[in-house]
Amino acid sequence: MNIHILRSKAEIDRAVADLFIEQVKANPNSVLGLATGSTPLGVYALLAKDHKENHTDYHNVTTVNLDEYIGLPDGHPESYKEFMKRNLFNHINVDFNRVHIPSIQGTYEESCKAYNDLLNQFVPDIQLLGIGANGHIGFNEPGTKADSKTHTVLLAEKTRLDNARFFNHIDEVPTHAITMGIQNILDAKRIVLIATGASKADAIYKMITGEITESLPASFLQKHSNVDIFLDKEAAKLL
Ligand code: GLP
Repeated sequence: MNIHILRSKAEIDRAVADLFIEQVKANPNSVLGLATGSTPLGVYALLAKDHKENHTDYHNVTTVNLDEYIGLPDGHPESYKEFMKRNLFNHINVDFNRVHIPSIQGTYEESCKAYNDLLNQFVPDIQLLGIGANGHIGFNEPGTKADSKTHTVLLAEKTRLDNARFFNHIDEVPTHAITMGIQNILDAKRIVLIATGASKADAIYKMITGEITESLPASFLQKHSNVDIFLDKEAAKLL
């Protein structure tokens, strides 16, 4: 793991946005693995700004998102589909036919298989990740197996509580989600994880220095040979 401890979130956003811009410029047909949550917002804002000013071309790029809530009505502002449109896709020239976010179409089993088939076809050149305070990546909660593929999950109470800030009430936070599995994430050619703030410090410490264990899913990233971790001082304070 390459650990980068930078002075501010702004510096992290700049460094990570530049990695994505370089990737797209080097290969206009790149596959980008994208994430949601508050962590990637700064990166997405910089990609949007760069597109506006420098016209970086996303028309032939394919995107695959990590995860999505189950059960939110179509168009709900907190669905990850709407999040991605609002924060990134509406501001760059993606071809929406090449934009992929997992969703339930038919049975859960059929939906997971369809997304897995897609991921086999479109392996991310670069996968962006945040991390949950309990060490989850995507929505791979503690207990998820290393060889897991796209699956549906019952969200941990901690995750629902952490994400309740985006909803009016905790009861509105979905109980289930569909997510890429750990194996799908590890299939990416390159992984870039961002963590900022003291609430992530414990998970970051265990992810980097601890054993590889299902109880901290992010620790599986130790098995990947091309991972960059971008941290601010608070998230790195236990290292
Ligand atoms: C959610 C997402 C994760 C994200 C995590 C951290 O649960 N499914 O992909 O990494 O939250 O969120 P935040 O970036 O808001 O701290």
